[in-house]
Amino acid sequence: VSTPLIPQPRPRPLVGNLPDLDAEKGIFGLMELADEHGPIYRLDVPGGDLVVVSSQELVDELCDESRFDKKLHNPLRNVRDFAGDGLFTAETDEPNWGAAHRILMPAFGPAALREMFDGMTDIAEQLLLKWERQGTGQRIDVSDNTTRLTLDTIALCSFSYRFNSLYSDQMHPFVGAMVRSLVESGERGRRLPLQNRLMLRTRHQYDEDKRLMYEVADQIIADRRRRPLPDGQHDILDTMLEAADPRTGERLSDENVRYQLVTFLIAGHETTSGLLTFTLYELLRNPEILARARAHVDEVLGDRAPRYEDLARLGYLDQVFKESLRLWPTAPAFAVQPFEDTVIGGRYPVSAGQTLLVLIPQLHRDPAVWGEQAEAFDPDRFAFDRAAALPPNAWKPFGNGQRSCIGRGFALQEATLFLAMLLQRFDITAADPDYRLHVKQTLTMKPDGLYVHVRRRETTI
Ligand code: HEM
Repeated sequence: VSTPLIPQPRPRPLVGNLPDLDAEKGIFGLMELADEHGPIYRLDVPGGDLVVVSSQELVDELCDESRFDKKLHNPLRNVRDFAGDGLFTAETDEPNWGAAHRILMPAFGPAALREMFDGMTDIAEQLLLKWERQGTGQRIDVSDNTTRLTLDTIALCSFSYRFNSLYSDQMHPFVGAMVRSLVESGERGRRLPLQNRLMLRTRHQYDEDKRLMYEVADQIIADRRRRPLPDGQHDILDTMLEAADPRTGERLSDENVRYQLVTFLIAGHETTSGLLTFTLYELLRNPEILARARAHVDEVLGDRAPRYEDLARLGYLDQVFKESLRLWPTAPAFAVQPFEDTVIGGRYPVSAGQTLLVLIPQLHRDPAVWGEQAEAFDPDRFAFDRAAALPPNAWKPFGNGQRSCIGRGFALQEATLFLAMLLQRFDITAADPDYRLHVKQTLTMKPDGLYVHVRRRETTI
């Protein structure tokens, strides 16, 4: 099926639209193309056609799971090379996706999240104590610190494993290996196949990184087999190793558990640290919203330590995070494919299996939904009555349907707890008042070079 009606930037001979993909600009380059070519456009890139979609009206149609399924687009195919058939990079019709989905969904449900509250507090406490001891003069690299926080939190809460990133200068080698592998997964899609084959040193580093990630995962599994958790304790790793699929009665293989571990470590921390960093960036630029968030925390918590029950009462922080994820969805794209040849938007023919990329930050600025002031950071957009009035599928930072994020509750609980504890304890100021946002992109995005100072407030916590 040809797609004559979908706008396309002019392709060049041999390389098609490859020159239109600006590695420096990444996702922002795709947004500029959307500004120019509209809410649906087509790019001819290595590996086939890419259709980029970004209006609420069209995305709403793509979220119909009876017509569309998740697509492993090129960057995800490359991630699959090391994350295997873990939840994030498995095809929906692979038996291992269904099995892991049924086994692991309850492991991230409300009852499990309550159990994880103490582990989350433990790591948040470590970071805040460190900041307090470093004193007011310290320039705190927000992205670096929150990455350590979220890596340690996902590992402790799901595998009872302590990376202890907050106690060492060097980040755990897993993080370097993971970041390089994710960058390389993206880069490969912007190179021609021959270029990829010729880059020997890059390929060697990539193989090394993959080996290291597997080594860490296999070590965690082996440790658990040797030393089970004490009686009465149970975590997600146990569920992965022991639970049987309620439908087939089968367990996950060791190889698949390794992939799930790598997947959870990757998916479970990059995105959440980005969320926290963007949120602090926005709060510092919007002092009245920061003041309101802090007053809200004071009202809910006063001087006492947060309890699990408090989280549901910290509604304004929830609005702040939703608004942060609107402007800065830290996993900025997901892709779907039609089951059959079909027409979208009443006139654009697309073929079965074709990659339809949802450009989330552009969707989240659709003026038809968010108005002409879509760039403004305004958590009141998510006040209860206004959120309820939003059209369907206007806000998609966690993806869609059965393939949406399994860690959504986990991420928001972790972020809410940390921000509440931070605001309760510290005055926070930008270390560089003239900081200009610079976004670092891999498969995810986060602000780079944002530094803050913190000063202890007069509280008894
Ligand atoms: C899937 C975003 C946190 C684990 C997804 C998807 C998105 C997303 C957009 C869908 C991807 C696609 O359709 O290709 C986010 C954001 C997060 C976050 C913005 C934080 C703010 C987490 C955490 C975990 C996690 C904390 C682990 C605890 C996963 C997994 C999948 C997934 C395993 C694949 C689910 C499946 O297909 O069955 N996430 N995520 N994520 N996420 Fe998250």
